[in-house]
Amino acid sequence: MAVIADRCPGIQVTVVDLNEQRIAAWNDADLSRLPVYEPGLDAVVGRSRGRNLHFSTEVDAAIAAADMVFLAVNTPTKTRGLGAGQASDLRWIEASARQVATAARGHTIVVEKSTLPVRTAETVTAILGAAQADGGGKTFSVLSNPEFLAEGTAITDLENPDRVLIGGEDAGAIEALAGVYGQWVPQERILRTNVWSSELSKLTANAFLAQRISSINAIAALCEATGANVREVARAIGTDSRIGPKFLQASPGFGGSCFQKDILNLVYLCRHYGLEEPAAYWEQVVKLNSWQQHRIARLAVRNLFGTVTGKRLAVLGFAFKADTNDTREAPAIRICRDLIEEGATLAIVDPKVEPEQIARDLGCSPGGAASLSGEGGWVPAASPEEAARGADAVLILTEWGVYRQLDWAAIAAVMRHPAWLFDARAVADAEAARAAGLNVWRVGEG
Ligand code: UDX
Repeated sequence: MAVIADRCPGIQVTVVDLNEQRIAAWNDADLSRLPVYEPGLDAVVGRSRGRNLHFSTEVDAAIAAADMVFLAVNTPTKTRGLGAGQASDLRWIEASARQVATAARGHTIVVEKSTLPVRTAETVTAILGAAQADGGGKTFSVLSNPEFLAEGTAITDLENPDRVLIGGEDAGAIEALAGVYGQWVPQERILRTNVWSSELSKLTANAFLAQRISSINAIAALCEATGANVREVARAIGTDSRIGPKFLQASPGFGGSCFQKDILNLVYLCRHYGLEEPAAYWEQVVKLNSWQQHRIARLAVRNLFGTVTGKRLAVLGFAFKADTNDTREAPAIRICRDLIEEGATLAIVDPKVEPEQIARDLGCSPGGAASLSGEGGWVPAASPEEAARGADAVLILTEWGVYRQLDWAAIAAVMRHPAWLFDARAVADAEAARAAGLNVWRVGEG
């Protein structure tokens, strides 16, 4: 919405939320304190806020005044009831559709922006249709406009998208939304489809991307076992133009709010339609991802003489990828939990993730010194050097740029030896770490 406001000065954009604290944070005079860390977002918000970009808790008034309403609410995986663990929880979508139905005036175009299971537009249309039938001159058109931005590169992805996808039945509504994007996106990149294709395309794009990561991570394990190098393999296959070079970085597994959730959604949909084999096929992408996370924790323990009880391990990076403070489904969560379970004390540092967030994700507050009693735990650290002090190993779990330039001589000097570097992102200078006397394991290389 900030990018739309920035690129379309003639459109008034109002972002509304019931959460007052969050809206207050978006209105904070200090742009470095916006609730989401995303490179370039502060500048975009700074340019339009107060001009044609507004943040407000006046939800009904904003709906009443709007020609177009974007539903961009959370759709997490259901934790209970029918479809628990796989289906999306649509309670917020339904609640916001009902609120739009009540508060709207005149003709309103409703745009599904949240990632949704296929045929959700039907639900939204049914709710809005009931309001339309009540009379009062309200009318609605529903569009699906899934978002393909990736975190960390959100602003450039939005400013220069590969494509914008608009699904709908009402040609007038489709052209109205295409007209908004058309102010900065070339027409040939604005794809128009039916609603169901649009909804399914988002799930499919994420499933294909995640599948590439699970594929390369499966090959990474084989490389480690055979002496091949996954980066050489990735380069060799990536030059095949049919395969292409992107999304072939071996890693501790994919994280983020989308991949796992969307694949599970796809699995649920397949099962719903009686398609057991396709369901099992996609489910395996997620299983392999969990396996990769557990594998990394296990191999760290194995190399540290089979026990980490009472040992301090430095964990560098907690976000699910670099350039974001988002930790949703971060591989670091499962890896850290496994190591704490094994009795390790982790010293965790991340350039953008707050210790309070880490505590929530790990389900335990920081505290406790490493001891042989068997109780694992974690403490926050202010820098990689501080995390490494007295540690038997350093684990790199997020590919932050600063981890490419670490001073391995200085780090090795404060560790307990024999000491290890487990680089699950293959970003550190392995030669320098070895020269400093560390044993080094790199993902996809061994
Ligand atoms: C993803 C999609 O890319 C985006 O189009 C969609 O709109 C939302 O979901 P995002 O989750 O923000 O975006 O990040 P992405 O860059 O796709 O990375 C997802 C995960 O895969 C991260 O944990 C990342 O570290 C990992 N990854 C990515 C790899 O492990 N290897 C790779 O080669 C690429």
